[in-house]
Amino acid sequence: MEDISLDLSSINDFIDKELYNSLLAKMPECLDNLRKANSLGANYTGWVNQDVDFEYTQIDKIISSVNRLKEKVNTLVVIGIGGSYLGSKAIIDALSNDFSNSSVLFAGHNLNSSYLHNLAEYLQSREFGICIISKSGTTTEPAIAFRFLKSVMESKYSSTEIKERIIAITDKSEGALRQLAENESYESFYIPDNIGGRYSIFTPVGLYPIAFAGFDIKQFLEGSIRMCDKVFNSETIDNIAFSYVCYRNMMYSKGKKIEILANYNYKLNFVSEWWKQLFGESEGKDGKGIFPVSLCFSTDLHSMGQYIQDGERHLFETLISVKKPKNDILISKDIENLDNLNYLSGQSIDYVNKMALKGAKKAHVSGGVPVVEILLPCLNEYYMGQLLYFFMISCGLSGYILGVNPFDQPGVEDYKRNMFSLLKKPGF
Ligand code: PA5
Repeated sequence: MEDISLDLSSINDFIDKELYNSLLAKMPECLDNLRKANSLGANYTGWVNQDVDFEYTQIDKIISSVNRLKEKVNTLVVIGIGGSYLGSKAIIDALSNDFSNSSVLFAGHNLNSSYLHNLAEYLQSREFGICIISKSGTTTEPAIAFRFLKSVMESKYSSTEIKERIIAITDKSEGALRQLAENESYESFYIPDNIGGRYSIFTPVGLYPIAFAGFDIKQFLEGSIRMCDKVFNSETIDNIAFSYVCYRNMMYSKGKKIEILANYNYKLNFVSEWWKQLFGESEGKDGKGIFPVSLCFSTDLHSMGQYIQDGERHLFETLISVKKPKNDILISKDIENLDNLNYLSGQSIDYVNKMALKGAKKAHVSGGVPVVEILLPCLNEYYMGQLLYFFMISCGLSGYILGVNPFDQPGVEDYKRNMFSLLKKPGF
C-alpha cells in the first residue's frame, strides 16, 4: 500500500549541501536517543515506539465503553484544551461530513461565556454525555466548563444517569480529576505518565472522541505503526522524518524563521492547529524556535498571498496535499458562457485546486519561499495516523537538533501565575 511521501524536488536552489549533510549526520543518534529515552525530556517519550508498547491505548476498553455510551447518548461534549482536544478535533474534522449534525462537540478550550451558554441551550434537545480530558486534572478552562456542564446535566438527568454519562481521561493516580473520578465512580481511562499532552493523540485522549465520532481507531493506530516502522527502518538518506527535520532546520539556520503549514483542503485546518501547538510548544524555548503559522489555500492566497510572494523573506512553506478527494465534481458547460468558464467544462474542481497548488508553489519558490510538499494518498484514518505520527517523531528529532527539550513547556506557566494572582487564587 502507498504511504505518505515528501517531495523536496522544488527546494534544490535553497539547499546548502554541507549544512544539510551535517544535520543529516546527526539524525540517527537523535532517533536512537528518542527510542532509548536517552536525552532531554526522556521521561516523556512513551509514544515513540508505536510498534512495541501498545497497551497504553486501552483500545478494547475504549470500544466497549463507546458502544455502551452510544446506547443512551447521541452527543458527546469533549472538554479539554491544548493537547487534550486539538488532536481529536483535527481527526474528526478531517474525516467528517461537513453538514451533517456532529455527534462530538468541544468545550473547555476557551473562557467564552456565550459559547458555553449557547452550548447549554443546544444540549437541552440532545441526549448528551461528557468526556472530560485533562492530564494534570487542574487546568482552569476545562475545570470551569466541566463544573458548568455538570450543572446542566443535573438539571436534566438523575444522579445515577449522570454517573453513566461522564467519562474521565486523566493521570493514572494523581490530580484533582483522578480524585473526582474515583469519588464519583465515573468510568475513567488513564494517560500514561511518560506521554505529555501534545503527544497524546494515540492514547485515550485522542482515541475516545474519535471512536465516538464513528471512526476506525484501529486503522488510525495502524497508520501510526506503519509510519513508526518506516522512520525506524529507512536508510538515513531516504528517511522521510530526517528529510523534513533537516530541511526545516537548514531553513532556520539560513534566517527563515517562520514555517507556514499550508493545506489546499480546509478539512485539514485543525491538523494545522494541532501541528502549531506541537511544534510551537516543543521548540519555542531558550530564545530559539521556528515560529509555526498555518494557512488554508486557495482561500488565504486571497489574503496572505501578497505577503508570501513579496514581503519579508523570512518564510518557508510546508504544504500538505491530498492526492485523491473523497468526492469530486465536474464543471458543467454553460451555453451562454457569461462567466467565461467554459474553458474548464468537463474538468473537475479538484483538478482546478491542484492547478492552484502547482501555480502557487512555483510562484512562491521563484519569490524566494522554499516549498516542500507532504503528499497524502487520501483522507482516511490510516493516513491520518501516519501523518500525525510523522509530525510527532519529526518534532522530537527537531527539538534535539535545536538543543531544546521538546517535551516540556515551562513558558506556559508565566501567564497562569499572573492570571491566578489577578483572580486571587489562594497561594498566588
Ligand atoms: O502539551 C501540553 O502538555 C499542554 O498543552 C496541555 O495539553 C494543555 O495545557 C492541557 O493540559 P491538561 O491536559 O493537563 O489539562
